[in-house]
Formats: sequence, C-alpha cells, structure tokens
Amino acid sequence: MDPLFKTIIEPFRVKSVEQIKFTTREHREEVLRQAGYNLFLIAAEDVLIDLLTDSGTGAMSAKQWGAMMVGDESYAGSRSFFRLEAVVRKITGFKHVIPTHQGRAAERILFSTAVKAGDVVPNNTHFDTTRANIEYAGAEARDLVIPEGRQPGVIHPFKGNMDVEALRQTIAEVGREHIPMVMLTLTNNSGGGQPVSMANIRAVSEIAHAHGIPLIIDACRFAENSWFIKQREEGYADKTPLEIARETFSYADGCTMSAKKDGLANIGGFLALNDDALAAQCRNLLILTEGFPTYGGLAGYDMEAIAQGLEEVLEEDYLRYRIRVTAYLAEALLKVGVPIVQPPGGHAVYIDARAMLPHIPPCQYPAQALAVELYREGGVRSVEIGSLMFGKPQPDGTEKPAMLELVRLTIPRRVYTQSHIDYVIEVISRVNARKDSIRGFRIVEQAPFLRHFSARLAPVETD
Ligand code: F0G
Repeated sequence: MDPLFKTIIEPFRVKSVEQIKFTTREHREEVLRQAGYNLFLIAAEDVLIDLLTDSGTGAMSAKQWGAMMVGDESYAGSRSFFRLEAVVRKITGFKHVIPTHQGRAAERILFSTAVKAGDVVPNNTHFDTTRANIEYAGAEARDLVIPEGRQPGVIHPFKGNMDVEALRQTIAEVGREHIPMVMLTLTNNSGGGQPVSMANIRAVSEIAHAHGIPLIIDACRFAENSWFIKQREEGYADKTPLEIARETFSYADGCTMSAKKDGLANIGGFLALNDDALAAQCRNLLILTEGFPTYGGLAGYDMEAIAQGLEEVLEEDYLRYRIRVTAYLAEALLKVGVPIVQPPGGHAVYIDARAMLPHIPPCQYPAQALAVELYREGGVRSVEIGSLMFGKPQPDGTEKPAMLELVRLTIPRRVYTQSHIDYVIEVISRVNARKDSIRGFRIVEQAPFLRHFSARLAPVETD
C-alpha cells in the first residue's frame, strides 16, 4: 500500500455476501433466558455481529475456493497433502508434518505421546484446550508469562513474553526429567493476544535446550506474531513476515497449529516435529484416532485451503489491515473510557471487566455479565475469558477466581467491514454508559472440564 495514504483499507473486495439477521431486544432477552445466559448456547442466527472467536470463522479467498476444487481426495499419498507439507516446511522448517482436524487434536496426540502424569509443561499462558489436554494427561500446565502480562493496564510491546527467570526456577524445582517440553503460545491468546518477541523466543529456546528439553510452539497466530515483531522489535523492520516466521520456528523443535486461525481456513490443523521417533509415535496414534498420515481427519480440499491460506496470511497488506482493525476498535473504546488490555492484541480486543465493573465480585463473573449485556444491547456476541472459563471450584464450595476477568472481542479474518466495527463501538459505548446497573451471575449447572462451553447461569438476585 502507498504509505502516503492514512486510511488502511480492507485489502480485498467482496465477491459473495452472507445475510445477517436483525433481532429485537425482546427476542434477545428470550434467547438469553433459554440459553442459560451462556453465549455458547445461542444459535448463531440470533447473533448480529459474532465476535465469539476468530477460529474457523474467517472468509476464504477466491484462490482458496479455487484450490478446493482441485483437492485430491486420495486416501493415501494425496497431492493436496504434499502441497500442505511443502508450505508448512517452507514456513516452519520442521521435518514431519502431521495433519489433524484442528489444533486440539494436534495437542492431544502430542501430549498423549510425550506427557505423563506428574509432569509439568511450562508455557507463557496455556490456552484452555491446551491446559485441559495437559491436565487430562495428569500433568500440570504452568503459566510463566512476564509480570507485565498479568496487568491489563500496563503497556509493554511484548506482553506475551515468558518470564525466563521463572522458567529457570521451574526447571530447577521440578527437574528436567519431569518437563517433557516447554511451550510458547504465539500470540498469547489467554493473556490478551499479546505477542512474544524474537529475543524472548531465542532466550526460552536456549534455556530449554541447555537442559535437553524441546521447545514446542503453539503456532495458531504465528503470522500476527511475526507482524508485531516486524513493527516493534529492533532489527526486523526490513524483514518479511515469512523470514520472521522462519526464524521464529528455527528456535523450536515442533509446533501445534490450528489452521482455523492463521491458516485462514474453516477447519484443520497440524502437528509438525523434527524428532523422528516422536513423529513416528504420533503418527501411530493419528492412524488410530484421526486418519491416515496423509490426511489426518481432513478432506483433501481442506488441506488445499490451508496450504493456500498459509501463503496469504503472510502477505504484508493483509497483516497491516488485520492488526489495524483491532487497533482501531481499541482506540475508539479507550476514547469512551472503556478499560482494555493494553496495547491491543492481534486478533482481539479484550475489555478488562474487573476494572469496568468493580461492583461485581469475581465470584459473580463480571466478564460474563458484560458479555451478556453486549448481546442484550445490540446482538454482539463476545466471549468471557475470566472466572467462568478459568475459575477453580474448591472443596469448600468457594472458587479460586481467574487471574483476569476479560471479555474478548475477537475479530474474524476478512469478514466484517469498518462499519460493522463502528456499530460494535456504539453498542459497547451504550453499555458503558449504564455499566453501574449491570448485575452479576451465578452458575446453576456445570461440567467438570471446560465448563464455560455448557454451563447454565442465572442472574444474581437483587436485594
Ligand atoms: N491454541 C490456541 C492459542 C488457541 O487459541 C486455540 C483455539 C487452540 C490452541 C485450539 O485450536 O480450536 O483448532 O482446536 N482457540 C479458539 C479461540 C477456539 O476461540 O481462541 P482448535
């Protein structure tokens, strides 16, 4: 794009449209009641602007749709697999590319193979499925993000960085033999979509490798992380996103990937590894539960869409627009006094509900209360990342609250235009103007794992 223009436009034009449904406030009220105030349980048709997730919700390009038509559906040795393998190798340099139906399948296969009960897996911040899969294997998922990463209001260019001193201490305390891998999540989704610097990736890699521990990257948003490095880290301004991605992966021994994010696809993922023996074990489990290693639970056309998406996601015009959308939303919210995680992340803006609704205690899920209110006000669906997602029920019936109470406004890739974002800003501003009247919630029904997906809630009675 010509740098003389200050409007950063969507680097695409629209070829196919999808209608969205306008609903009344009364209808939304009824929808909320029936869904037990859980936004995961409402029909997408009843949502006007869906900011629940950026996962699998992106718009594919004409080139991706075209590639799907030439997908090779052969059970073994599909041409589409070899295309995907070549693209993943070009970007990551990893030797073994194992397709999976999405990111958590890659996690399950890796952790079932490499993690045992009693182990500890450090990460900057584990995403919920990563944490759940590690805990399911009987191990501990330990978050070691830098202290700045735990303070929503503090500005730091790389708030997703791992605290390297804490990593050293963890290795000393737990012992190398109980740490099957160190992980880094790029960008750090649960910590606000914050990037990790190349210097930090290198430092973490050096410490892990000095102890003979492999480094595995959770690569869901690797392209967005590369863009932040290009913008914010000295020495990277003139490098391409691909060069930065290649350097990132060069410090690691493998990655798990959800292609539903920076793969620009609606489904899919992969596990990539350098270790021959580990890859062989993972492939054996893949055959048992996902599919033959040249499709891993995906259609040939899915692998084509991912391969093409991985090329497009590293284009500079795309990344510049992508990161500008979140910055634009964040700037507008700050202007009306809505507290957000600063600076804004790559794929989402996170409202700090604890700061916005100080009158609602964490045990009454302030972030959930805010998410419900955004839906009630304007049909905007967001997602709670707070004590409903991460609170830990204690034996005495109380709950250990989450570190942060956030509402994530997650931007699907290439889906909404600037006026959609302007509408979201208006909805949030209206809710903000009457924030003191918002009440908390209590859980009336919950599952033992990943409860936020299915829990039912009720408003806390007013006295
Ligand atoms: N790791 C990270 C950092 C993620 O954000 C996700 C998914 C996964 C792993 C799992 O990938 O969904 O393909 O199985 N995040 C989505 C989200 C669901 O809304 O942030 P998956």
